[in-house]
Amino acid sequence: MSTLSEQFQSQGYLVLEQFVPHKACDILMMRAEDLAADFDYKGHPSVFQTSDQTKSSDDYFLDSGDKISFFFEKDAFDEKGELKQDLFHSLNKIGHALHDIDPVFSSFSRSQEMQELAFALGLTDHVLIQSMMIFKHAKIGGKVDVHQDATFLYTEPQSCIGFWFALEDAMIENGCLWAAAGGHQTSLRSWFKRKPEGGTEMHIIDEQPYNINAMRPLEVPKGSCIILHGLLPHYSLPNTSGKSRQAYAIHTISREARYPSANWLRRDLSSLKSFKESDK
Ligand code: FE2
Repeated sequence: MSTLSEQFQSQGYLVLEQFVPHKACDILMMRAEDLAADFDYKGHPSVFQTSDQTKSSDDYFLDSGDKISFFFEKDAFDEKGELKQDLFHSLNKIGHALHDIDPVFSSFSRSQEMQELAFALGLTDHVLIQSMMIFKHAKIGGKVDVHQDATFLYTEPQSCIGFWFALEDAMIENGCLWAAAGGHQTSLRSWFKRKPEGGTEMHIIDEQPYNINAMRPLEVPKGSCIILHGLLPHYSLPNTSGKSRQAYAIHTISREARYPSANWLRRDLSSLKSFKESDK
């Protein structure tokens, strides 16, 4: 029997079913809906779309590293700039510091179970740097192109590890994750970084294409946790079903790794906390 850590290191991801009680999933989804209800979007709609990064490079997005910010689906607005449906069902995600600012998300992110999981994976140096509530609403939830999370959370050496929680069943029809076992044993293709003159760019490191044909759907029931290596290429399809696919994701990096200031996500590195630390 290999350990959890060995399985993760060889496969590049781990699926832990029944990691989160359904009640805890429901509490996070309700909290996110409450946060969205208090959001006044007029004046700063920001669209999250991985297939055209230039569109998301506005100041609202770039300043969201230490805030609770709201991002819309690309198809949320009509030609007149009005929302086509209610605000909540127009949102793509909320990010990127829910885990530090909101008490409900903070306590979920630093639960006893998370502390034990991080310990089992040997992540004793890791701190939480980013969190996202991802809605993937019915019919409107867009695709997320193949990417490696280390592209968006670049460290030297590579240390990014993600924890993705299925708050609802994630199936092919509603846009589950796709990845290949062992897919992380590859190079980092790109680095999404700030340009010195302002704005962002996708800096290409290796032009080798991803092996998309090797990727398989990671269909999981509500309450599952999928741990993702920062170099593991993964993607998700649009939600064409009538059911949302809400997920919460936390990303961690090693406190010992170098986190260049050119990364798009800016945090006061000295303020980053581990799974055990909390000021709540
Ligand atoms: Fe990702």
